[in-house]
Amino acid sequence: MNAERLEFIRRLPKAELHLHIEGTLEPELIFRLAQRNGVILPYPSIQALRDAYEFTDLQSFLDLYYAGAAVLMTEADFYDMTMAYLARIAQDGVVHTEIMFDPQTHTERGVPIATVFAGIARALREGYDTWGITSCLIMSFLRHLSEEAAFETLEQALPLREQYADLWLGIGLDSGEQGNPPEKFERVYARCRELGFYLVAHAGEEGPAAYVSSALNRLNVIRIDHGVRSEEDPELLKTLAARKIPLTVCPLSNLKLKVVNNMREHNLKRLLDQGLCVTINSDDPAYFGGYLLDNYIAVADAFALSDEDLITLATNSMQSRFPVFLDRRS
Ligand code: ADE
Ligand code: ZN
Repeated sequence: MNAERLEFIRRLPKAELHLHIEGTLEPELIFRLAQRNGVILPYPSIQALRDAYEFTDLQSFLDLYYAGAAVLMTEADFYDMTMAYLARIAQDGVVHTEIMFDPQTHTERGVPIATVFAGIARALREGYDTWGITSCLIMSFLRHLSEEAAFETLEQALPLREQYADLWLGIGLDSGEQGNPPEKFERVYARCRELGFYLVAHAGEEGPAAYVSSALNRLNVIRIDHGVRSEEDPELLKTLAARKIPLTVCPLSNLKLKVVNNMREHNLKRLLDQGLCVTINSDDPAYFGGYLLDNYIAVADAFALSDEDLITLATNSMQSRFPVFLDRRS
């Protein structure tokens, strides 16, 4: 790609809507935090850890992702991780980011949920002051755990809601999709809806199109994370297009986790051409070989996208932000 085109994409105002903050932990930072906290890593070097990033499917990635997240212990760790991500995306023309985090990954290890919120939030507020990047938080439940565990996490987090009212706006659902359908979380999502959170869920990444329908109809989500397998159900595609439900597609993630074998086989351009609200996102950039701009470049190259296509993708992302987020300037 020539420098002029790269600069065109970089300068497009873009929102990132599907990003797991624990997935931004670069091997260098994993090693630094492990040393700081006296955590022994099962890898002799940074390079050995990076070399292990060869995945066969979602679960093979999740095993490493949860192991990497185990170095996060203190408020400063969550702050450092989040600041590193913001500093990185500030160079890429990202103006807004909606960040998922998995408290259960940390509370299970004895880290208080207040520590998780505090470190991430301090960085997001500072990131706004430093780079003008607006942001919010999507607290996500791990779907391989029970709905009861999700309810417990919600109860632990709710006392913090007022303190983080400027940031904590959303609820998400992630981790191993197969065998953990959205309806497993129907009651806790109904409660979160009553509480006024915006609802999203991973569906149709590895799981079938029926999971996308279930996320829409039983969880009442306003966006679908991934959703690429929706294409298997033409009626569902019509519904997604008619209701303008955004899909937060993550091209490099899909390639690394072998949802597709080749970027040219990805269906995002077909979905876009069928009128779906496709957005481009990075998912877990430290593990999948690229941040948001890299994902745009990868699809622009693979599909020889026109400037108009790229503007549509960026505009979709800006229009698919949560409808109201409190402006910290006021
Ligand atoms: N957690 C982090 N990344 C994920 C992904 N791509 N799918 C499901 N859960 C995740
Ligand atoms: Zn994801």
